[in-house]
Amino acid sequence: MSKIVCVHSFRHGTGKSNVVANLAAIIASCGQRAGIIDTDIPSPGLHVLFGLESEKINATLNDYLWGSAALADIAYDVSDTANTSGSRRSPAAATSQPLGGIYLIPGNLKASEIPRVWGGGYNVELLSDSFELLLRDLRLDYLFIDSRAGLDEEALISIALCDVLVLVLRPDRQDFHGTALMVELARKLQVPHIHLVVNQVLPTYDFDAVRQQMETTYKVPVAGILPFSETLVELASSDLFCLQYPNHLFTQQLRAIAEKITCCKASQMRPEIVLAPPSENPDREEGGLRMFDFLMQHSSERQLAKWILQQRKPVTLAEVAAHTGMDKGAVRTVLDTLVEQGCLLELEMAGERRYRPRLAPKKGRQLCKYIWEKLEENGAD
Ligand SMILES: Nc1ncnc2c1ncn2[C@@H]1O[C@H](COP(=O)(O)OP(=O)(O)OP(=O)(O)O)[C@@H](O)[C@H]1O
Ligand SMILES: [Mg+2]
Repeated sequence: MSKIVCVHSFRHGTGKSNVVANLAAIIASCGQRAGIIDTDIPSPGLHVLFGLESEKINATLNDYLWGSAALADIAYDVSDTANTSGSRRSPAAATSQPLGGIYLIPGNLKASEIPRVWGGGYNVELLSDSFELLLRDLRLDYLFIDSRAGLDEEALISIALCDVLVLVLRPDRQDFHGTALMVELARKLQVPHIHLVVNQVLPTYDFDAVRQQMETTYKVPVAGILPFSETLVELASSDLFCLQYPNHLFTQQLRAIAEKITCCKASQMRPEIVLAPPSENPDREEGGLRMFDFLMQHSSERQLAKWILQQRKPVTLAEVAAHTGMDKGAVRTVLDTLVEQGCLLELEMAGERRYRPRLAPKKGRQLCKYIWEKLEENGAD
């Protein structure tokens, strides 16, 4: 069973991208196929860790979200890069096991392209559908989501749909409150497995004490504690640390994290995502739910919409009735109301009527018009 692993943090710079890239490499070195999607639209950087140069990137996640590229065109096989880019690698690293495969979906670094999606908005359902399509089409064992720090639509949709959430934090008071908030939100979104990874811990600290303190505070298991490493700083994202330093404590801890993630019980995972056929009514300007609506849960209808999202497949009236314990007549009234409000879409699948949440398109950022115009001026570069 394939799994979606979202690596997130409340604050920036906690080490998410390094954790994602190295975890994918470790998992691939065990013969598994790992995908990585860089959902940090305004400041992507994952491709740097794989030595994928900007000039070699023809299409990115932005193009897919903008509707101008297929997913197949934006998945880059970086297995070889991960395997061979380390000309500076130690002989021990050179003997690393054969890779199962690493596929990277990069973000776009062009000044003219970021505003198209970030400033112009996009269809959020395309992003949520992309997870399942990538798992299926690339035959992935794991899809890692390198998520943008903090709280936005991309982060919330990734958390809402993932099987395993890895929250990365540093032993820094600024990270503590935000992590507590993220744990609370993840619980509301009923993520099946939540793990903490404490990064940049001074090697002089007592790791067991740090683990105990975090587990007591957050009531979430700590999957691993990563030491602060000057060597990693010196590497400056020019390579994958675990391949270059296979015996380093950082790598050992990451291996332990990889093992914990792969040991998560399949029976406790979310059900497989079933893609709905594309909507017959492409006019998404009105209505639809934002991810924040799912968290507010002001009404029982919204709670029901959240439950339907978490099923990761369009549901039937009978399934809703079984979940809510309501009779079918009452369920139909609630579902009709949600469809009328534009929160649910009604679909015909294999001769059966089903319902899926209707996600609102992400609105563009309210940034000064002058700035967007300047950024878009050289759109053809
Ligand atoms: N254990 C560590 N020891 C030393 N430096 C580290 C460690 N982990 C990460 N770093 C450094 O911290 C910086 C941020 O790392 P990274 O880009 O992986 O974080 P991030 O959470 O993805 O950041 P952002 O939120 O901006 O996307 C990088 O310069 C990286 O080399
Ligand atoms: Mg990052």
